[in-house]
Amino acid sequence: MIVLACFAGSVLMSEMKGKICIITGSNSGIGKETALSLAKMGATVVMVVRDQERGEKARTEIVRQTGNNSVDLMFCDLSSMDSIRSFAKEFKKKYDQLDVLINNAGALFNKREVTSEGFERTFAVNYLGPFLLTHELLDLLKSSAPSRIINVSSGLAKNGMVDLDDLQSEKNYAGTKPYSRVRAPVYANTKLMVMMFTYELARRLKCTGVTVNVLMPGFVATNLGKNSGSLSSFLMFKMVRPMQVSAKKGAETSVYLASSDEVKDVTGKCFAKKKEVMTCPASYDEELQKRLWDKTEIMLGLA
Ligand SMILES: NC(=O)c1ccc[n+]([C@@H]2O[C@H](COP(=O)([O-])OP(=O)(O)OC[C@H]3O[C@@H](n4cnc5c(N)ncnc54)[C@H](OP(=O)(O)O)[C@@H]3O)[C@@H](O)[C@H]2O)c1
Repeated sequence: MIVLACFAGSVLMSEMKGKICIITGSNSGIGKETALSLAKMGATVVMVVRDQERGEKARTEIVRQTGNNSVDLMFCDLSSMDSIRSFAKEFKKKYDQLDVLINNAGALFNKREVTSEGFERTFAVNYLGPFLLTHELLDLLKSSAPSRIINVSSGLAKNGMVDLDDLQSEKNYAGTKPYSRVRAPVYANTKLMVMMFTYELARRLKCTGVTVNVLMPGFVATNLGKNSGSLSSFLMFKMVRPMQVSAKKGAETSVYLASSDEVKDVTGKCFAKKKEVMTCPASYDEELQKRLWDKTEIMLGLA
């Protein structure tokens, strides 16, 4: 019996052996649980975080719990396009393969803030950052094909809208209150953009062997919103805690999309609870997807 159990354990451990996976925002919440699960499966996990202390703490825990020493820590502030470019350069110096990129990091802010590079912060972290990071790593993802890109969006995307004339919410900034009925809070807008980016990218990556899918993790007990700068949001998050699922449960769809053979050829789809789901009608507007893409490239100087 013991021998069988050990054998089963080692099979499980080798499921992702040889695969190199980047997970942004992996020092906490859904990202940390995703990193833990993929490390358990034997993957080389590159935890991309912005804070050394929080990152080291999470990395140590993951190594201890999984026995997998191939858990690397690298630094990147996704609100800074300079930081993203430097990270991508560093990563490519260190690794010559990338099998899975999980754009997981996300944040929301009560008040409008502008980064030193001139971008509204929610827009920068949730949408612009993942767009640029993906762009910077795309050559490596293509040369490592079959490879996978996984974008973490939110069910709240359905409350979002994309105003191409006000992508940075200069005219209208609806801050946190992520679970309120506010029409088009900035967080929801950015998560809708993530869906549209996924669908457009999937079309552009046809026949490359690189798949890209998006997911909605559900209502998950994490640190999201805790540092949004709003007391009412903080209290609201405390109140809704009993309705939330654990971060481990919230990570299941990310892990599934990163590792399951069932989805190895699936691209341009959205998943929730490990099942393909439809998203809001606005997300499928191909004309808007293209125009958003073009505008984003101009903003990032990629055009
Ligand atoms: N929790 C939910 O109910 C829920 C629902 C739908 C979607 N989501 C999405 O799930 C993803 C993971 O969030 P979570 O719920 O696990 O929340 P979380 O515990 O707050 O984790 C968010 C992660 O993103 C990182 N991050 C934030 N700003 C960053 C920046 N500028 N640069 C680099 N990393 C940054 C955080 O790092 P620090 O620790 O340094 O801040 C943290 O590691 C997010 O995209 C979120 O929008 C969550």
